[in-house]
Amino acid sequence: MIQLGEHHFSEYLSAATIQDKVKELGAAINKDYSSEDPPIVMALLNGAFIFAADLCRQFDFECQLQLLRVSSYKGMESTGKVIVDHSAEPNMEGRQVLIIEDIVDTGNTLAAYLPTLETKGARSVRVCSLLLKPDAIQHDLQIHYLGFEIPNEFVIGYGLDYNGRGRNLGSIYSIVQ
Ligand code: IMP
Repeated sequence: MIQLGEHHFSEYLSAATIQDKVKELGAAINKDYSSEDPPIVMALLNGAFIFAADLCRQFDFECQLQLLRVSSYKGMESTGKVIVDHSAEPNMEGRQVLIIEDIVDTGNTLAAYLPTLETKGARSVRVCSLLLKPDAIQHDLQIHYLGFEIPNEFVIGYGLDYNGRGRNLGSIYSIVQ
């Protein structure tokens, strides 16, 4: 059990369980891409930075990795307003794009961002998310590579934060109500 501010969290996915899943996802992604036609890999910051760092080291194809700042969350609530830093985007014309997300919650972030990729000429767009909250999602989204479905509860660790805290934890912890 750990405490951040007034909230307590208990371990939900151990670091070892997460690392096994990262390897599994990496193997699935390696089957679908090659260095002849490599994807541009874009990780959505801040939350996905640790997952993306581990996942991209599983890739056996040569890829271009871009970190992209996207935000919609404040504290434990999605604000519904998605802000994307488009200035960091590489040229996607004719390219395959792989998006790395830490967690799909309401789906607002991906629902707002994915359609913009086609307008920029991306030839194909796939999404890899470590976590999905099926009971929270509000959009019809295809997650091509998914780590774990989790209950609709707030989680921290492995890149995920509560007001900037908890990102450095190796395991994922779920809030204790
Ligand atoms: P969505 O737009 O509602 O799908 O949420 C996407 C973003 O919200 C994620 O990339 C996270 O940064 C953040 N988020 C959603 N659920 C959680 C959570 O349980 N803990 C921490 N951050 C979360």
